[in-house]
Amino acid sequence: MRLFLDTANIDEIRAAHKMGVLAGVTTNPSLMAKESGITYRERVIEICETVKGPVSAECTARDVAGLLEEGRQIAAWNPHVVVKIPIDQNGLEAAATLAKEGIKINMTLIFSANQALLAATAGATYVSPFVGRIDDAGQDGMEVVRESVEIFDRYHLPAQVLAASLRHPRHIVEAAQAGASIATIPYAVLKAMLKHPLTDLGIERFLADARTYVRESARQRANP
Ligand code: E4P
Repeated sequence: MRLFLDTANIDEIRAAHKMGVLAGVTTNPSLMAKESGITYRERVIEICETVKGPVSAECTARDVAGLLEEGRQIAAWNPHVVVKIPIDQNGLEAAATLAKEGIKINMTLIFSANQALLAATAGATYVSPFVGRIDDAGQDGMEVVRESVEIFDRYHLPAQVLAASLRHPRHIVEAAQAGASIATIPYAVLKAMLKHPLTDLGIERFLADARTYVRESARQRANP
């Protein structure tokens, strides 16, 4: 399973990139609204040049003509750009047309396996179930990931399940077990994946023992 970062913050993206774990990035208008002093286009290009992998940028048009125009513009920003389109009837129609033109689509705001099936059938490259938001509504978000993976596998649909709206480290493990191709993760969750109290304790003990060993060796050399 590949890991994407779910952010528009360039510092977080650079930090994750340096860790050697970052395969791509997903952005959306809400994430971009937290940034300032830069246009969406400029930020997405900056991210593409850093990550050199798929970077999703979201359309905000609501009608088919607007989505087609915006999707083509966004796709021209950089070869790594993936055009993100919310699923509805217009979104599906635009995604199908853009996919036929060779533009990669991330169909977003997926809340059921039926929506995932429609997105994959229309030609989306990535299909994004929003696990955390489904959980928030009192249902099992990971079940949508499991069902989508099973359906895509059984019918050899080339779309990749991109588990999104992941809120904590267990979500990543469960998305991997469910067979998601990608998990997109907030930076705070990526850092939480890295931490374990026993690792911190282990490092402290090794350092303390190393200091004792150095001190003891020096003492033995001084008084053989
Ligand atoms: C995915 O592409 C979305 O940007 C994201 O995962 C949404 O997550 P949220 O529900 O935490 O806003």
